[in-house]
Amino acid sequence: MNQQLTSLDTVLAYHERTKHNFQRYAMGPDHIDWDTQPDSFRRYAGAERFELPLVADTLDSAYVDLYRPGAIAPQPMNLNTVAALLELSLGISAWKQYGGSRWALRCNPSSGNLHPTEGYVVLPNLSDIPAGVYHYMSHDHVLEQRGLFDEKGAEILDATLSSGRFLFGLTSIPWREAWKYGERAFRYCQHDIGHAVAAVRYAAATLGWTVQLLDNWADAEIVTVLGLDRDDDCNRAEREVAEVMLCVNSKSSLSPKSPCPSLIKSGEILSVMADVKWAGKANVLDHHHHYEWAVIDTVLEATKFPEKILSAMTAVKWADEADWIAPPLPPLPSISCTSRAADLIRQRRSAQMFDGVTPLSREAFYRLLDSTLPRHNAAPWDVFPYLPRIHLILFVHRVTDLSPGLYVLLRRAGIEENLRAALQHEHFVWLKPEACPEHLQFYQLVSGDAQTIAQQISCHQEIAADSAFSLGMLAEFEARLKNRPWGYRRLFWEAGIIGQVLYLEAEAVGVRGTGIGCYFDDAVHALLGLTGTCYQSMYHFTVGSPLIDKRLQTLPPYAHLDS
Ligand SMILES: Cc1cc2nc3c(=O)[nH]c(=O)nc-3n(C[C@H](O)[C@H](O)[C@H](O)COP(=O)(O)O)c2cc1C
Repeated sequence: MNQQLTSLDTVLAYHERTKHNFQRYAMGPDHIDWDTQPDSFRRYAGAERFELPLVADTLDSAYVDLYRPGAIAPQPMNLNTVAALLELSLGISAWKQYGGSRWALRCNPSSGNLHPTEGYVVLPNLSDIPAGVYHYMSHDHVLEQRGLFDEKGAEILDATLSSGRFLFGLTSIPWREAWKYGERAFRYCQHDIGHAVAAVRYAAATLGWTVQLLDNWADAEIVTVLGLDRDDDCNRAEREVAEVMLCVNSKSSLSPKSPCPSLIKSGEILSVMADVKWAGKANVLDHHHHYEWAVIDTVLEATKFPEKILSAMTAVKWADEADWIAPPLPPLPSISCTSRAADLIRQRRSAQMFDGVTPLSREAFYRLLDSTLPRHNAAPWDVFPYLPRIHLILFVHRVTDLSPGLYVLLRRAGIEENLRAALQHEHFVWLKPEACPEHLQFYQLVSGDAQTIAQQISCHQEIAADSAFSLGMLAEFEARLKNRPWGYRRLFWEAGIIGQVLYLEAEAVGVRGTGIGCYFDDAVHALLGLTGTCYQSMYHFTVGSPLIDKRLQTLPPYAHLDS
């Protein structure tokens, strides 16, 4: 059996065994000892620290302008603006306090607030910081200098990035998530990466910048450039795994007509990594590790983006995914949101309860759906270079002038026939609702109260029923994975990006969203009449009018730095 097939089998087996179902949840710890929760902040002791200014408050870009190509003048790239990007993507957005407990929230959400994602920037020489590889320590809002380029390295880095660009790498520490969620944790790490990619993209847009996902970088190359393979710096500390390398561009103009700038190649940068001077020792996050979830290491290995994928052996047609260009669509319908982008990004929260009463206007609902559709060269979807493979199954509860029921939104053309054939219920009517914007492929499948079923399949969570609507993200699973086991991670990233879009868009129309990672996979498929693994549900989400828990105190994000 060749390696491709073996990896694919591993992925399929992992997906199957980590399904929750009515009779049994995926394997996880028998009990959780909250006192032994892993440290949610990675630190590199001994690395030189560069304190970053807190500048998000000075950014005036309007949230609605993030989507309008050319509306925000690009800011110059310097330590201040890089700091703003970090503050608004992975930075702390508030502290919550209840009784004796206090916990940080961040601009990027995370399953269980466990935050397995770490961020790095690879910067060329800037006036206040030398060319190097830096870990972002969000608790202190500092950059820790992991790697320092020598003069020649800095020159090559400068030339490769050409002025105005830098790299932004994302990694995961799976143990943070596995500590609580066991085997299913790999999925949540990947959702979180999708959320973080979108968070970086939105933060860049507030500065008038663009972001590309460097899909020409193998995981092993990301490992080398970020220094993740440096055993001496880790000792017993939990290892980080490479996820994705992004390129932030402070100069490219955002216009539907401008061509995408070419992708930065890893080769030149890798050629100077041997001369980088490394510093810093990673902290141990959890001294106990009572459980081991070996299957996570196995699926991580099976889904690595391999080196030399572009070489001969890869007559495999994977380029169909990466060469996709979004079709022209009408601009997003306007909304009355007047918030500054920086405020809206930092006010994003997960709703813990919904009021179960307040309807969402039909206009706001359609705007939310519309914002999940990729638009060419427009934020945030321009960061995701692949053919959309995820479609939405919606449980509509409270939307004005739209009957409650089960609906579907197709996120790309050319899939309807296949999906209609796959959703095997004859009573699905496939009716386009009245007043639905022409370009939305949005259909009612069946009308009726969908609250009970929505709650049941989302692990009985009331947030799926008391909202205005909840949804499941249905992936073209087999088509995406065929010959490309690494496509598994990318499906979760796509789902996470959709989630982040919905989180921010919900805030913009005056309601609130919550990601739902806990759902009964095959119950969703059965509800839709799906058999086999052609389509699989990857993530759920819910949006509505939140009830705020007044017992929780909210504290400012970085007041602790003043003391
Ligand atoms: C991938 C993912 C899965 C999540 N799953 C659930 C869930 O099943 N139920 C829930 O109440 N919240 C869920 N959440 C919300 C998180 O608990 C929340 O993001 C976290 O506590 C941080 O709070 P914040 O989003 O307000 O910053 C999920 C979030 C993410 C990103």
